[in-house]
Amino acid sequence: MILSEIQEVVRECGQLMLRADHAHAGVENKGKYNDLVTRYDKAIQDILQKRLLDIAPDAHFLGEEENVHESIAKGRAFVVDPIDGTTNFIFDYKHSCISVGLTKFGRMLFGCVYNPYTREMYSAVKGEGAKLNGKEIHCSDKGLADNLVAFGTARYQTEDTDRIFDHAKKLYLNSLGIRAGGSAALDICRVASGANGVYLELMLYPWDYAAASLIVMEAGGFISTAEGGMITLDQPCSILAAGRQCWKEASQLLSE
Ligand code: IPD
Ligand code: CA
Ligand code: CA
Repeated sequence: MILSEIQEVVRECGQLMLRADHAHAGVENKGKYNDLVTRYDKAIQDILQKRLLDIAPDAHFLGEEENVHESIAKGRAFVVDPIDGTTNFIFDYKHSCISVGLTKFGRMLFGCVYNPYTREMYSAVKGEGAKLNGKEIHCSDKGLADNLVAFGTARYQTEDTDRIFDHAKKLYLNSLGIRAGGSAALDICRVASGANGVYLELMLYPWDYAAASLIVMEAGGFISTAEGGMITLDQPCSILAAGRQCWKEASQLLSE
């Protein structure tokens, strides 16, 4: 019940993205190069904060924008990226999403990632599998040679530039090809549906990957740091998400 209410709020926020006036989006830089925010990111986070806390008043709230960074260690918490793929959104690329995770004592319980342009709602409940618009989805069981690889470049994290492109080259040479979609949450969900064999990025924040991490695990995949370590939701980290076979092959390649 609460889960369908959360998804309903997320779909409503998607309408705001679809109706956006891109010429007057109020783009601001948050500090680093290409670390952008628009008035829509802020408005959607405000709506989510209000409406989600109406649904679960006991919950804490961790959102990307406006320093609403409450701890998720105790009780329930929402982990929210109001628009993942803000640069895409600014250029009306139509590949951005809203990402909402619900945690309990710091562990994912429920996640949904909604792309309003395609009306694709990815969702997962812990222990109940992953779905795309209500239909079960699964990661690819094939290896790299039979899959596409997606990656993200965390454009503001310039010290990682050489390393990510070196990794991307290795993955490119061992797969069907490479893609950089510009929305980590959506591109990880595409691992869950089997459209991407792998997703790799060297620096993501919990709001980028929280919901998608549960969706990919519930779809039978693995998610770890690029070095194969366990991901926690309390700090930024690198992310390697993939089906089992691709994960084995990709982590071997990255360690060479
Ligand atoms: C970004 C997107 C992008 C990824 C960046 C993220 P934002 O999130 O997910 O694909 O490469 O690392 O910061 O800023 O659009 O929410
Ligand atoms: Ca993001
Ligand atoms: Ca964002």
